[in-house]
Amino acid sequence: MTAVSLGLLPDNATVAADGSLDVAGCRVADLAAEFGTPVFVYDEAHLRARCREAVGAFGRDRVIYATKAFLCKAMARLAYDEGLLLDVASGGELAVALAAGVPAGACTLHGNNKSVAELRAAIEAGVRHIVVDSFDELDRLDGLHAGSGATPSVLLRITPGVSAHTHEFIATGQDDSKFGFNLGNGDALRAVDRARRSAAVELVGLHCHIGSNVFDASSFAKAAAVMADFAVPLDLPELVLGGGLGVPYVGGEEAPTITQWGNVLLDACAALGVRSNVGVEPGRAIVASAAMTIYTVGTVKHIPDVRTYIAVDGGMSDNPRPVLYGSGYESFLPRAVTAERDMTARLVGKHCESGDVLSFAAKLPGDVAVGDLLAMPVTGAYGHSMGSNYNKITRPPVVFVRDGDARLVVRRETHDDLMITDVG
Ligand code: LLP
Repeated sequence: MTAVSLGLLPDNATVAADGSLDVAGCRVADLAAEFGTPVFVYDEAHLRARCREAVGAFGRDRVIYATKAFLCKAMARLAYDEGLLLDVASGGELAVALAAGVPAGACTLHGNNKSVAELRAAIEAGVRHIVVDSFDELDRLDGLHAGSGATPSVLLRITPGVSAHTHEFIATGQDDSKFGFNLGNGDALRAVDRARRSAAVELVGLHCHIGSNVFDASSFAKAAAVMADFAVPLDLPELVLGGGLGVPYVGGEEAPTITQWGNVLLDACAALGVRSNVGVEPGRAIVASAAMTIYTVGTVKHIPDVRTYIAVDGGMSDNPRPVLYGSGYESFLPRAVTAERDMTARLVGKHCESGDVLSFAAKLPGDVAVGDLLAMPVTGAYGHSMGSNYNKITRPPVVFVRDGDARLVVRRETHDDLMITDVG
């Protein structure tokens, strides 16, 4: 069995002379010693490079970073500094973006069930766009207009009836979806008519998002074609085609680059006569492979003729994706990056259930031992952001590394943090 594929590691990961792992000039063993484990380590230059690639592919003010993938104040600032706008899918994500100093005018509010309070907060802050998801939301915006006279700029989220080839939990473009106005049954057209006649909103465009972790560029082209058919005659200024570009998680997987994705979408739109500004909302493709999670091995349990379990000091609370979606991840030892991984083990966390699995069949060097650091690459998207406090485990810190410097951007939670809302 082979060593981990170096292509899965952050751009600035390097192997030192002794075979150990550095990221952006920082020894991973030193980072673990300084910040403890588990810890999310992000290569800051990698994040910036992906932001720049996206702006290069689509243009300034055309790339709206989906903050749900990974959000903290440093990330919001970084994306905004690199010329991205921000997609916030709740009042909480908006609050973090604003606290980071990102102007509301650079934020788009999403959500299939926005509350009146979220809509009001977004309008009062002055967000750039609200992406309206339902007739009920149009009712709520009517109510807010009656109270304050506000007329937010809105896009309508259209469900194009295009199935993306991805896990069913993260496919959103098919007719049977909780999201958006269905194109097929006429709701989309009814929503456009209503929004155009409404004094409560200014309709500036259309939106779709067919799903997440999509590897096949033709799914995007198909959605663009369906949307273009609908959008061209309406001649609205904005057409946002969502996020969804997949990334390789394990050796052998391949996904289009952001640049290739841009070419597919923009070529399709040009060929279809789209005159609107074409925007996109990447999340995963910006952040996923910028980060690795570093754990410490705590137990190694061999069950003869059954399997070996290796337990680390995190688990489903810092990465629920293997349990939720059956997602695959690689793992390796930062002390021996290029070592052959000649044993197969089930990599598990420290939670009180057998479902707490990080990798069902992890390949690792046979000499893996208690106390070893273990690295899991491509954890930069939907890891920290989907973290929980199950079993009252404190969430790990986030460290940005760059040019030999390590900067703590989210500290590790403490036991006091766990009780901060517990007023009983
Ligand atoms: N725009 C909208 C409206 C979305 O709903 C999403 C993701 C994105 C953009 C960004 O998609 P991305 O480029 O990251 O694929 N928790 C799941 C992913 C859920 C994605 C939800 N929406 C996972 O861990 O795979």
